[in-house]
Amino acid sequence: MPAYGPGPSSPDPRETALILAGRAWVRGRLEPIEVAIGQDGRIQSVGKIRSGAPRHDVGESVILPAATDVHVHFREPGGPDEVENLATGTVQAALGGVTLVGDMPNNPHSISDPERLEEKARLVPGRAAVDVLLYANPFGAAHPERLARHAGAFKLYLSPTTGISEVPDPAETDALLRRLADLDLPLAVHAEDPAGFVRGEPPGDPRAWDGARPPAAEMEAIDRLLAAPARLRLHVAHVTTAAAARRIRAAGLSFEASPQHLLLNERSGSDPRFKVNPPLRSEAERLALWEAFRHGEIPILASDHAPHSVEAKERPFDRAPSGMPGVETMLPLLLARVRAGELDLPTLIAAACDRPARWFGQPLGRIAPGHRANLIVVDFRARRPLSGRTLHAPCGWTAFEGMDAILPREHYRDGERLVEAGEFVGSARGRVVRPEYAPGPPGAGP
Ligand code: NCD
Ligand code: ZN
Repeated sequence: MPAYGPGPSSPDPRETALILAGRAWVRGRLEPIEVAIGQDGRIQSVGKIRSGAPRHDVGESVILPAATDVHVHFREPGGPDEVENLATGTVQAALGGVTLVGDMPNNPHSISDPERLEEKARLVPGRAAVDVLLYANPFGAAHPERLARHAGAFKLYLSPTTGISEVPDPAETDALLRRLADLDLPLAVHAEDPAGFVRGEPPGDPRAWDGARPPAAEMEAIDRLLAAPARLRLHVAHVTTAAAARRIRAAGLSFEASPQHLLLNERSGSDPRFKVNPPLRSEAERLALWEAFRHGEIPILASDHAPHSVEAKERPFDRAPSGMPGVETMLPLLLARVRAGELDLPTLIAAACDRPARWFGQPLGRIAPGHRANLIVVDFRARRPLSGRTLHAPCGWTAFEGMDAILPREHYRDGERLVEAGEFVGSARGRVVRPEYAPGPPGAGP
């Protein structure tokens, strides 16, 4: 098999550190191949490799690019009751095959000035197992322009949610979108319009929550976003309906869907562990969203990992916080859908690995020369039901209890092993990253 990338005629001065051999995801399919990883942690070449470097054959498993999760809440800096931090969150990411996370700014003191952002960035080195891109909140920021020089992306909340009580009114939103359009950062938006919320009895279960924050409120917020200047690099977070997905897609914007909205519905459970913003929807809405995802019509998969303690989730439904953990289970749940024949591997890799990495402007998500050697090894035969007790979220629970998942056996970050035989064996070498190049076009495939 011919090597591509630096071959024998263009000798590469960097030494090979490790060769991974086996069926690997290259050029849009699985091929029996060897992946040479340089001392610098980059992929040197992919092909038939003649070299004395240590060689690791993955046998019946497959080598895939590791995933990027553009939406997590690792709660740091946080309050006294937090059940997550950068160390625990990034270990779950590593175990779930996620090699880069985008951490949201809804900390108790929202990340909306450069000093807070700097303070948060200082918590990453020596504590994070995977890389972290930090979002900043532009609403209420005195100088969004100064924030943009330090942040990895912006996150704007159009409705109240955990840690967010103040949101811009429509005129403020329009003005802010115009101002952000002149800055060069991706902007993710929590798109629910509180004007569309339905007030009535305090919601007592996920169906009532869906009724209180209905799909129409999501669509109204999305319509407002579609009027933003075209040069704005807009990304709509956690879309819950196929109709919303179609509208955003037609406008050529980026957006994500989360495993909870793809795999759970408002009857999956009745207690506050199933309370999330935006709400879980009806089975008909879920199925339509899943069909859109399956057909590659949803560009990005993101977890919206947002854990809360058992105590907080034991409050009466209307007073319990919204959000559920998911960074460790996102890719494994979807790999199990691939194994079950319900989803194509190329569709999953595009949505979980390639497009989110490009949205963040990172050389990740592909097994190709020059890309970082952030790879996972997956044994598709190793399917098992999820349990909150064996997962690593300190909150100790998962809304996906009992659902099939395939957790990666190995995870490499820059060629260094973070996970071996499904156990975390790595160190905390994660760093803060910012876009290295302009985000890729939203709808583009691999
Ligand atoms: C998130 C949280 O708890 O931080 N909760 C949620 O229901 N998704 C906030 C958010 O993303 O809305
Ligand atoms: Zn979120």
